[in-house]
Amino acid sequence: MTVTYENGTNGTNGAKGANGAKATQEAFVDVSSVIATSTNLPDHVPALLEKVATSGKAFISNDSKARTDLLDAARALVYATETPREAMIRIAWSQSTLYACIEAGVDMGLFTALSKDDKPKKASSLAEAVSAEPKMLARILKHLCAMGVILETGPDEYRRTGFSISLMSERFSDAYPCITDCITNGVMALPKHLRKTNLRNPTDGTDCAFQLGYDTKDHFFEFLGTHPIAAKQFNNHMSAYHQGRPSWMDTGFYDVPGLAERATEDNCVLIVDMGGSLGHDLSELRRKWPHIAGRFVLQDLPAVIQQAQTMNLHRSIEPMEHDFFTEQPIKGARAYYMHSVLHDWPDEKCIEILKNIVPAMKPGYSKILINENVIPETNAYWETTSLDIIMMSDFASSERTAGNWHSLVEAAGLKISKIWTVQRGVESLIECELAE
Ligand SMILES: C[S@@+](CC[C@H](N)C(=O)[O-])C[C@H]1O[C@@H](n2cnc3c(N)ncnc32)[C@H](O)[C@@H]1O
Repeated sequence: MTVTYENGTNGTNGAKGANGAKATQEAFVDVSSVIATSTNLPDHVPALLEKVATSGKAFISNDSKARTDLLDAARALVYATETPREAMIRIAWSQSTLYACIEAGVDMGLFTALSKDDKPKKASSLAEAVSAEPKMLARILKHLCAMGVILETGPDEYRRTGFSISLMSERFSDAYPCITDCITNGVMALPKHLRKTNLRNPTDGTDCAFQLGYDTKDHFFEFLGTHPIAAKQFNNHMSAYHQGRPSWMDTGFYDVPGLAERATEDNCVLIVDMGGSLGHDLSELRRKWPHIAGRFVLQDLPAVIQQAQTMNLHRSIEPMEHDFFTEQPIKGARAYYMHSVLHDWPDEKCIEILKNIVPAMKPGYSKILINENVIPETNAYWETTSLDIIMMSDFASSERTAGNWHSLVEAAGLKISKIWTVQRGVESLIECELAE
């Protein structure tokens, strides 16, 4: 079969049937269809198979770092091996439907009914447990199984997985309604917003895709202030999303003892966690370093501090209402810490936040610790790039490169003394001090 493409090039855009008269061809073939149904990157498949095998062997022999290498290689193998048509269906059909089934499952208590023990359960008994129509629930269960959330053990019979067990816990399951109620509509409105602004990089958190998507004039955090359920779910999500990843508080990441050894004066504040949410980071620091001295201060907006006060915080953690757009009231702390705070704000707002800390800092002693992503020049991790697009859509802000961080910090009269990074896709610790 000889095919001559209409445009005479490599034919990736293909001959159009409507203009068939122009094409010289023995048999008409729609090239885009051929490409859409062929392996995406066939040349990459052999090397990726080898990577999967090597990292798979290391993983089986208990090399913990190999797990993420294996996942990266397996994911890259799927993307290289699937056809563009399959990618289209995966993205366009399965992502939203899987999400909807998980959120519906969380809402009806399905994962608690399924995962309370390891016994397989019939769809009909699960339907009874959650008071759902069996015919409807059987369909949702089939999709959850097809997408790897639960295991099939027979016709209309299912068993729990680690994933479904995690969905019994509010801290993890709240991610789904939370993202629907305050993130997704903004992200989905991004194309419309970009069209409206002639493709400008968003820089105003009160006029970005978020306002279009949620039909509001409020900034994201004002919106949370009037949507208490979404706010509670957001705070739970904040406390859970980075679980299990290396943290700057782990031995071998940042010099925690070096920070603590100079904070020995009576009543001195070791750390102020600004925008610290429910106090999960301070609790982790207390758990990992139980003997370090000094006070721990947790700051956030009033509604968040009220929720934090119900969390049974360690007695050394002092909750305090504080708006970081006003001057920092805790003077001379050893560290002013912010985790995933500055990425919520465009540069000019971040500079305001940083400048509000400067008058409180004791020269040669106080540090600002910024726990955020530092996007590498190449090979950025998909979790970080996902978050960057969320930031663009819902906050008109961004994840930042090392260069961006240096410029930002210097604009506030500070300097970066060191950036501590342990692993791709994990937030770094950016240590700053007053510029001389
Ligand atoms: C993305 S969350 C990060 C929470 C926490 N640091 C963490 O990493 O899990 C941002 C936090 O900043 C808080 N926040 C927003 N605006 C604030 C303001 N003006 N003053 C103080 N905190 C604020 C929010 O309530 C929220 O807890």
